[in-house]
Amino acid sequence: MFDRRDFPQDFVFGAATAAYQIEGHRVGGAGPTHWDSFAATPGNVAGAEDGASACDHYHRWPEDLDLLRDGGFDAYRFSTSWARVMPDGKSVNPEGLDFYDRLVDGILERGLAPFLTLYHWELPSVLADNGGWTNRDTTSRFGDFTRLIAEKLGDRVARIATINEPWCVSWLSHFEGHHAPGLRDIRAAARSMHHIMLAHAEGVEALRAAGHKGAGIVLNFTDVQCGDSEGGWSEAAARTDAIMNRWFIESVARGEYPAEALEGLERHLPKGWTGDMARIAAPIDWLGVNYYSRALVTEAPEKPWPSTGAITGPLPKTQMGWEVYPRGLSSLLNRMADDYVGSLPIYVTENGMAWADEPCDGKIEDTARIDYVAAHLEAVRRSLSHGTNIKGYFYWSLLDNYEWSFGYEKRFGLIHVDFGTLKRTPKASWHRFRDALSDGRR
Ligand code: FCB
Repeated sequence: MFDRRDFPQDFVFGAATAAYQIEGHRVGGAGPTHWDSFAATPGNVAGAEDGASACDHYHRWPEDLDLLRDGGFDAYRFSTSWARVMPDGKSVNPEGLDFYDRLVDGILERGLAPFLTLYHWELPSVLADNGGWTNRDTTSRFGDFTRLIAEKLGDRVARIATINEPWCVSWLSHFEGHHAPGLRDIRAAARSMHHIMLAHAEGVEALRAAGHKGAGIVLNFTDVQCGDSEGGWSEAAARTDAIMNRWFIESVARGEYPAEALEGLERHLPKGWTGDMARIAAPIDWLGVNYYSRALVTEAPEKPWPSTGAITGPLPKTQMGWEVYPRGLSSLLNRMADDYVGSLPIYVTENGMAWADEPCDGKIEDTARIDYVAAHLEAVRRSLSHGTNIKGYFYWSLLDNYEWSFGYEKRFGLIHVDFGTLKRTPKASWHRFRDALSDGRR
């Protein structure tokens, strides 16, 4: 079982959320986003559900922050909705900005450290109309948004991440079509893969100009393995690793995109892309790593590039169907330090599991989640003893919430939310965290 005392003195324990997934987007003057229209299109989202009401965190945030504090946590990772503070992508909605102002004060008042993510996916529809991330201009607009947030909140928020999971923003959303805007187009994918990294660069530049010293990015990593031969490696696995993992970390850490990905994508990249690479590789102050599972990749020569498929592995799975594979977390954390970022502070900014939790006599005994967390924290410890400079761990998620294309069915929270009454009920995992963290809270 896990215990705070098994981690370094300054190790930070937190929980994470994202604006569109919890706030309730219909209130407070927020503008339409591409997730609203994606969800309104049949077949994209389970039950065609959207984030209009979500957990009503917009009104219930004091209760949610109390639960975070009472769980013994040190930090809260949240995001600022671009469409809430700039409903038309340009002009400012003071009500939206004030909401985050109060939220940040509320976080600090409870002795929690705020970790802010600027872009966790709700692109204002007006910008989507202009091509969204396939249009270079969106990156400048993101710079404007960053300046606004840095000016309003930057003095009180020590760590600001530019983008959450650029792979999901680009490949998953423009090649696989699973997330908004739901495209399946290799050219759009390539361009968005570059522009999202350029947006990161714009964000870092804006933060630096505002004097901010805690700029980072949150990347998601999957432990890519060969599905054709156990323990082997293949070109298909190498291509997938290049697209899912290396594209993002190598552009930030080295100013390069991997050759295995460029072989299929270069001809679709915007002209002059190499001229942006030095900006993308500007130094950052910390790296966020999101980790959930591994991928078993197969060769699929009958398909066009990248000519890959996937098989389902034999390990126990979460409600998402994702294999529970804690070993991948330690190997990816070690790989980050050894191959890319050296001693730069790394935070596990997301890790967690969905389970079909329902209260029984007012209790939710999510022992599978407790085991999942314990195994992944053990993986973090292994990586710490390898010498990796891991500074914290954020469970995804504080609350059951809107799980994107899966709607409200997949429950990741430490706190159960009844989406009819919006009642919050801490699960056994929340109690377990409280027992593990409350002693010796900093
Ligand atoms: C990550 C997202 C987060 C949540 C988890 C389950 O990809 O950053 O919003 O959906 O997956």
